[in-house]
Amino acid sequence: MDAYRYTLADFYASDSPSVVEPPADWGAWLAEPATQACMALFEQPLLAAPRAATRIASRFDGTERDVINLTSYNYLGLATHPEVIGAARDALETYGLGASGAAMLSGTYDVHVRLAEQLAAFKGREACALFSGGLMANYGALQGMLRRGDVLVMDEKCHQSIIDGGTLARAKSVFFRHNDPDALAAVLEAHRGKRVLVAVEGVYSMDGDLGDLTRLAPVCAAHGAPLYVDEAHSSLLFGRTGRGIAELQGVEDQVAVTFGTLSKAFGGVGGFICSTQAIVRYIKAYASAYAFSCAPSPPVVAGCLKALEVATRNHDLQDRLWRNVARMRANLEAMQLNLGDSASQVIPIIIGDSAELLFDIARRVQARGVFLQPVDYPAVPADQRRFRLSVTAMLTDTQIDDACNVIEDEIAQRVKR
Ligand SMILES: Cc1ncc(COP(=O)(O)O)c(C=O)c1O
Repeated sequence: MDAYRYTLADFYASDSPSVVEPPADWGAWLAEPATQACMALFEQPLLAAPRAATRIASRFDGTERDVINLTSYNYLGLATHPEVIGAARDALETYGLGASGAAMLSGTYDVHVRLAEQLAAFKGREACALFSGGLMANYGALQGMLRRGDVLVMDEKCHQSIIDGGTLARAKSVFFRHNDPDALAAVLEAHRGKRVLVAVEGVYSMDGDLGDLTRLAPVCAAHGAPLYVDEAHSSLLFGRTGRGIAELQGVEDQVAVTFGTLSKAFGGVGGFICSTQAIVRYIKAYASAYAFSCAPSPPVVAGCLKALEVATRNHDLQDRLWRNVARMRANLEAMQLNLGDSASQVIPIIIGDSAELLFDIARRVQARGVFLQPVDYPAVPADQRRFRLSVTAMLTDTQIDDACNVIEDEIAQRVKR
């Protein structure tokens, strides 16, 4: 079998006699040495914190190595900030490890109340609901608000958790062309009279480009369609006070519900949505991800409270991040790599349609001490296989330049623009 001819997209619906027996062709593909060599690049254990310099146990060659980390979402370095670690450690002593209950029953602690209040204040909203994951927050909010017969209108590049949220609610899912206000208007026109919700993102997670809220929000307003904005990769980073792309583009008053995750710039784990008191209460009552799941771990919540304080105290971390993004971009642009439309700390290096080339480069780059991960189809279009690079505030100039030298040798030399 030519393993590179197939991807994960090929086997999900293959024949199988039983739901607990994966398809035989999937098993045969997985057993191919080439597939195993590719799979070995995923789930490689980190042996240290997600700092700019960390250590991984490479699954593809069985060695442990120090690496420059261009893959973690620890954009501002808050996952490893001493004050954040201190706050989480204190909370661990006070509350123990887990919340040991759903928020409605025994899982709400004073730290949860404080974080929800402060996130609502930070986002300039009346109320906030916390979830134990970002994906859970999208599931919960969308399943809580929408129902059968409603229409969830999504930008075609929306994250899987938004798509799944609509499915959970049994709403009709409709996509419009990425960032295209005319396409959005046509979809809304076609669903006139229905209860609709339009979902878009601030920073698109695989491309690093920005949602064009300035042009999309007025279309929603003209059609009376509420707007839901996923600011997973933009909260704490964009806008004058760090509220995200809606703040940057001056359309916050046109956003009905704003979503954030605690797993990216906040450096923890968990998710949240902010909106009016009325809709947040309603979501909490009807979202399974809120009502039927254990509340977030108190030490993580306390760490995120401190992360919010540190990140909004001044602009120092953001300034360092944007300085690093500018340096990284300048280096990559000089190599004439295809960086798509990235306008953020997420920078794709698009290499094209060859999975074999993608994985071969990934192994070489990592063997030379740069932790940069490949993204294959179906996570991205088959002709736009890529590396997804995350710039963080913690990188030093030397680390950026050293990583770029490896990228130049291993990617730029082999990938034609
Ligand atoms: C745009 C977007 N929304 C939601 C999520 C889910 O967040 P989490 O990883 O915190 O569950 C992600 C995760 O990568 C994301 O990129």
